[in-house]
Amino acid sequence: MKNLLLQLDPDEHPSAFDRIVAYDAGADEVLSYGGVTVTDVPPLVHGAIFTRGPADLRHTAVWVGGTDVGAAEALFAAVQKAFFGPFRVSAMMDANGCNTTAAAAVAHLAGVVTLSGARAVILGGTGPVGVRAAALLAREGADVVLCSRSLERARAAGERLKATFGIDVTPCQAWDEAGVTRALEGADVCLTAGAAGVTFVPRTVWAKHPRLKALADVNAVPPLGIEGIEAGDKGTEREGKRVFGALGIGGLKMKVHRACVARLFERNDTVIDLESIYGAARAG
Ligand SMILES: NC(=O)c1ccc[n+]([C@@H]2O[C@H](COP(=O)([O-])OP(=O)(O)OC[C@H]3O[C@@H](n4cnc5c(N)ncnc54)[C@H](OP(=O)(O)O)[C@@H]3O)[C@@H](O)[C@H]2O)c1
Repeated sequence: MKNLLLQLDPDEHPSAFDRIVAYDAGADEVLSYGGVTVTDVPPLVHGAIFTRGPADLRHTAVWVGGTDVGAAEALFAAVQKAFFGPFRVSAMMDANGCNTTAAAAVAHLAGVVTLSGARAVILGGTGPVGVRAAALLAREGADVVLCSRSLERARAAGERLKATFGIDVTPCQAWDEAGVTRALEGADVCLTAGAAGVTFVPRTVWAKHPRLKALADVNAVPPLGIEGIEAGDKGTEREGKRVFGALGIGGLKMKVHRACVARLFERNDTVIDLESIYGAARAG
């Protein structure tokens, strides 16, 4: 029986990236729908769950992607609401790579630093990747400082993290050199998760830092988020610290994406959430 992936995407054109990775991960056919709204979800999901008997439903799965993470989250909630009793299939959401990227970045950091008890500072941390990385770092026992250009937005992100994951972070305003230097005082780990093409940490700030052990940057668009590292760095030692660039992290991110899609076809009732994605990244 063919493994069919129902691709639901709020963007006008469903992501070619998501579709190609799905084929590479073993889907036999990808049914791609773009411009999907919450009201479109029940009939699309019902079309997927009523066509095969319960024993065969593991060969059907739902993928929610696209570039708009908020819209994709709403679709993903609607997908799960459309299931009932045995009429369900496995599902995953990774709009804009937010979950797989955060999981891969934190897994790499966890591989070189003991995160439990570490002070982890996330710069540009209020976006989809930053908040998920914050949740994972906190779950690993790190004391997380979540930075934004605005203290108000950092606090709002902290409240969302508390409501969604039950974790506490310290909100912080930091974006210019003086603010970033202050935010990094006492830090063991630094992750830059800000918008593409924005440098957050000048080399002079991190190179002589007395305590920082590892830094990671998920921005692949020059200039990089951390000055003086290379996008391809993957645990490279620079200035006595282990550093990771976006392409170095991207290899694991892609591996995790493919592994999770393959996992969707193992059972008919798996919701692959951030924790499971992180598990795949740690196993990676
Ligand atoms: N390598 C990969 O596979 C991969 C996959 C997905 C994403 N990414 C990268 O990961 C990063 C984070 O993605 P995302 O979607 O979470 O990011 P995002 O939402 O675009 O940006 C994250 C945060 O950056 C801050 N920001 C925006 N413009 C800024 C500016 N001009 N100067 C300073 N700060 C600014 C904003 O925070 P405040 O407004 O609160 O300051 C925003 O919430 C991006 O660089 C993205 O390209 C990489």
